[in-house]
Amino acid sequence: MKIVIHIDDSTQWQAALEKALPQATVLTSDAPADERKNADYLAIWKAPEHLLQEQSQLKGIINLGAGVDYLLKTPGLPSDVPIVKLRDAGMGELMADYVLYGVLHFYRSMDRYASQQQSATWKPQAVPEKTQWPVGILGLGAIGSFVASHLSQAGFPVLGWSRSPKEINGVRCLHGDEGLDELLAQVQSVVTILPDTAATEGILNAERLAKLPIGASVINPGRGSLIDEQALLDALGDTKNPGHLRGALLDVFCEEPLPTGHLLWQHPNVIVTPHMAAPTPLNDAIDQVISYIKAFEAGEALATISPEAGY
Ligand code: GLV
Repeated sequence: MKIVIHIDDSTQWQAALEKALPQATVLTSDAPADERKNADYLAIWKAPEHLLQEQSQLKGIINLGAGVDYLLKTPGLPSDVPIVKLRDAGMGELMADYVLYGVLHFYRSMDRYASQQQSATWKPQAVPEKTQWPVGILGLGAIGSFVASHLSQAGFPVLGWSRSPKEINGVRCLHGDEGLDELLAQVQSVVTILPDTAATEGILNAERLAKLPIGASVINPGRGSLIDEQALLDALGDTKNPGHLRGALLDVFCEEPLPTGHLLWQHPNVIVTPHMAAPTPLNDAIDQVISYIKAFEAGEALATISPEAGY
């Protein structure tokens, strides 16, 4: 069995897979082209086109991340090879930490203290009751549900939204277009953890951003395409003409890396992080990768992704 890996820390993944599957030949995408060919499995994250194009007998592709948008857009992706993706695999916890940081940033007025510090202003801000700080999570897949539960356990009222109905302990789950409007009208922070698909593109557009209460904040660790960036900038306004939103913590953008001159870099109420909210943690993810390969080999049914749905 031959497995070819492509991810930032490929050699560490290679060592872990070799240990777990001693009978397999495990190569990184840096191996010579004639050795990389005829792989049974690709375990990849943001792989170059040629790696997909040069394969002819793949049994499965394992996406070493939660979002399959990049993979599905890669030219040369065979249409007849089943694709599986990591489901949570330690990313839920990383994402929950990132989102909790973002919620606390606004809830505990860290944005205001950062600005007060510019003028050495000593002015405590009121701390509202947590019950007065509802948080909305858009997207209740494996990661979104984990984040929603985590925030609920931290004491915040949590509203969750997904296209179809879901149930999560401690979370008020809404769905459909009406459910989305209902959620937006109530939350102090809205968090986007949806996949990038034709149905979610620009889901937070000008009209929906306008439904958020005055002073609400936006946290996006999901995908850049979920938010209309110009509409977000308009809703944030500027120092002379403040908009109705208070600020944003953004990890993902329509174009990555975020172009140097982009207005989001300069906006005083925006924090930009470089798509690092939940990097795939090898130790948690490796067991899932191994169980996928074993299941493929045993001919077991696997929860593959749907290229049409985009997740
Ligand atoms: C990261 O962006 C992922 O999809 O896992």
